[in-house]
Amino acid sequence: MQLLKTGAFLRAARSARLSIPSRRAPLATSYTPSRWSSSQVAAAAHEQNPFPEQSVNASREVDPAKTAELKDDGVQKSDSTNTDSHKQQTTIGGTPYILDQTTNVTSSILGLVGRNLYDQADHPICITRKLIESCFPHPEYNNFTMSDPVVTVKDNFDVLGFPADHPGRSRTDTYYVNSTHLLRTHTSAHQHAAFQTLATEKHTSGYTICADVYRRDSIDRSHFPVFHQMEGARVWDLTPNAESRYLAQTMRTSKIARQLDALPKTSIEVEDNATSFSRNTNPMQSEHDPVEVQLVVSHLKRSLEYLMEQIHKAAQESLDPSARQASGPLKVRWVEAYFPFTSPSFELEVLWNGEWLELLGCGVVQQPILNNAGLKYSIGWAWGVGIERFAMLLFGIPDIRLFWSDDPRFLRQFSRGKITKFEPFSKFPACYKDIAFWINPSPGVASPIGAEAPSTSGVAAAAGGNATKASPSETQPAAFHENDIMEVVRDIAGSLAEDVKLVDEFVHPTSGRKSLCYRINYRSLERTLTNEEVNELHNQVERRMASQFGVELR
Ligand code: DAH
Repeated sequence: MQLLKTGAFLRAARSARLSIPSRRAPLATSYTPSRWSSSQVAAAAHEQNPFPEQSVNASREVDPAKTAELKDDGVQKSDSTNTDSHKQQTTIGGTPYILDQTTNVTSSILGLVGRNLYDQADHPICITRKLIESCFPHPEYNNFTMSDPVVTVKDNFDVLGFPADHPGRSRTDTYYVNSTHLLRTHTSAHQHAAFQTLATEKHTSGYTICADVYRRDSIDRSHFPVFHQMEGARVWDLTPNAESRYLAQTMRTSKIARQLDALPKTSIEVEDNATSFSRNTNPMQSEHDPVEVQLVVSHLKRSLEYLMEQIHKAAQESLDPSARQASGPLKVRWVEAYFPFTSPSFELEVLWNGEWLELLGCGVVQQPILNNAGLKYSIGWAWGVGIERFAMLLFGIPDIRLFWSDDPRFLRQFSRGKITKFEPFSKFPACYKDIAFWINPSPGVASPIGAEAPSTSGVAAAAGGNATKASPSETQPAAFHENDIMEVVRDIAGSLAEDVKLVDEFVHPTSGRKSLCYRINYRSLERTLTNEEVNELHNQVERRMASQFGVELR
């Protein structure tokens, strides 16, 4: 999992119904003529206060004049009766949204919405989710899943204190439905609502949330534009009816200490490189009591160490005794981290085949987030993990695309409650093709709406953050971002693309133009692809690159 850091509902899984209020407008907001106008407003507000005190009810009035006729086939091409781009519309999970010039979500991505793999009891994603939930059980924790992936920009970034220039906000990294709504990039987008629920449901003190999350990213065996995350949090309230605030605080502190003591002991080997909270790199929050922060952090770390031990045990049980011995004891370590929404923050890494792997991020929740959700007198911790990474290690699944396979040879290998090692079915041949092109020095066109037609709207391919990097080594902004080709390949080849890599780049000595060459590896996990079909896919990729980004094929 790549964590959203920089120098850095609903369905309850148990039968309980969650009372998280719906905070989304049924129909998206009005068209904004300037591409970034609404986020500029948000950015300006953010600069004044990274944690605006707010009612997060983002709903806005629907202007019927701005509503296009509803069609039902994913991202709308132009409305035949009205060609204005602002009349374009898409329906996601039954809710219509007006598209605008911020839109970059594609029909192929929307086609993956609603699979709810975390809900299919015999699927490795669901088996992993249940295993994690078993370490954070009811009634102390509510276990939620969240099927609708559309959230507001506010919930995904603003309320969590993401700076206005955080690269995660850029259109090269995130799928925007329109300027106010996006496909959540992490489960933390539901923190605010889940904390609000905690504020009213006094019988629980924490929650887990599992959901599908979406990110524009590179194409390789461990990255897919949709993956799953799980998020957990736990809070402690000030004891009501205490005679004084001081007494209430003391009682809360001793409660945390008692609960810390009651946590199950683990026998894993832990190296802790994040024990002191440096004022410069990983500060505690000024309003917190240092003793209490130490206790909350210990409770957080111990809870997650317990999780790691349980997962390790489950994985061991799937091995035969000799393999168990060979795999040795579990070793984990804590390192300092940075997340906009926690401080201090940590990452947990696990030693896997001789390498330290980053597995999860966590920390003490930024107090303004709790305050904004009605938990003014609480202190708490939160964590987030990527489920695929866990599941790939646990089940020995070598390619992330397999999670999305309908092939019974994959699906029938797994059953609820059991960790079993994946047996590869035969590997089908790969076929690679190169695409080489001169990149266009002027901005290309990013909106996938009507992508085949060369557009003159001049919308930049990328916006914000590191968005305009032409390649990982490029420092000068250019009109092309590597994630753009990834998106085109994904849209055309879907899961038939195994990986896409930059294999050559050079700058013409006299013209100064830059040429890039990408190698696309096409391989089906389920059958042998014919030459003709690969050629056809590749031709489409070439045509789309030329028409959508104005690159000149070589
Ligand atoms: N939302 C983070 C990500 O996607 C993961 C995370 C880190 C969640 C720390 C948390 C947290 O709740 O406390 O990268």
